[in-house]
Amino acid sequence: MFTIQSMQPTQHQEVAQLIHDSTNGWYLNQLGQELFTGGPQSTMLFCDVYETLDPGCCLIAVADHDQMILGSCFYHPRETHIALGIMNVHPSAFGQGVARQLLQRVIDVADEQQKAIRLVSSAMNLDSFSLYTKAGFVPRQMFQDMVLDVPLQGIGFGDLSGVEIRDAREEDLPAMADLEYRVAHIRREKDYRFFVAANAGMSRQQDRPHWHTSVLYRQGEMQGWMVSIVHAGSQMVGPAIARDESVALSLLQHELNYRAGNRMVFLVPVECQKLVQTAYAWGAKNCELHVAQVRGAFRPYQGVCMPTFMPETG
Ligand SMILES: CC(C)(COP(=O)(O)OP(=O)(O)OC[C@H]1O[C@@H](n2cnc3c(N)ncnc32)[C@H](O)[C@@H]1OP(=O)(O)O)[C@@H](O)C(=O)NCCC(=O)NCCS
Repeated sequence: MFTIQSMQPTQHQEVAQLIHDSTNGWYLNQLGQELFTGGPQSTMLFCDVYETLDPGCCLIAVADHDQMILGSCFYHPRETHIALGIMNVHPSAFGQGVARQLLQRVIDVADEQQKAIRLVSSAMNLDSFSLYTKAGFVPRQMFQDMVLDVPLQGIGFGDLSGVEIRDAREEDLPAMADLEYRVAHIRREKDYRFFVAANAGMSRQQDRPHWHTSVLYRQGEMQGWMVSIVHAGSQMVGPAIARDESVALSLLQHELNYRAGNRMVFLVPVECQKLVQTAYAWGAKNCELHVAQVRGAFRPYQGVCMPTFMPETG
């Protein structure tokens, strides 16, 4: 028996440990290798980022007999939808309905607010895939996760004539939000404000932030933007939104070069052949498959959406 509660600040460390043990346990058992190699301290990133963005929006399942945290689930209410973040159950409690009950609480919130729920789940993890489809989510878009060791000298640039790529600034935020609304039909300006504030932090602190955001303009009109993160708990490019594949490609080259010398993972929509083939030419390999799942209204993308896991998009 367990009770569902909101995570308290004193429980961050235990939840970080749970995320680490649950995810690594599952990956080691099913796929033969751990996902988080930086220890439980690295998965504090999820508590830190998610609680900064959405205080009080982490649900935990606590065992009635010894108060052990059996499961955790982060969610992010946004203007157009609710995004579901990382969901974890302790391996000792798998298959007992912990995740289903945590999910049901988020569904209740979404139904009350009359919003869709969106998430990105691994297509190689039938436990999580099924958890969501059984609860009424519909897989809408497949992504291939590609991993690339970005050479120290970077990767060559294609033709960037006529476009301006630069670090995002606060004044770009409305255009970033409008573009995502046109391409993916969701709005979540708060998330970009967080990423872009990290850009500003870099110039003040004279060192590299975890986050970096680039924007691409053509003839004064925003065509795309892309975020990346480098941290012990996550080395990813994304989220990104682009009007078309060539914009996404220019941004991806730019962002990967910014992260030269790092091993980066990025999620490419499977039908974006130009992106996929160029990534192969750079030496990228497939490492997993993810699927955007939506419970509620969904309109097909009108452009390129490259999601990530923090905060989840898709
Ligand atoms: C994925 C995970 C959260 C599931 O947690 P759980 O508490 O074991 O899941 P539940 O017991 O609530 O089961 C969820 C539902 O999926 C169903 N299900 C599981 N596998 C299924 C399958 N192959 N086909 C159909 N349904 C399936 C279960 O029957 C259950 O539905 P029910 O309650 O109506 O019977 C857990 O395995 C986990 O933490 N894994 C490691 C981390 C991870 O992968 N997180 C998700 C990605 S962010």
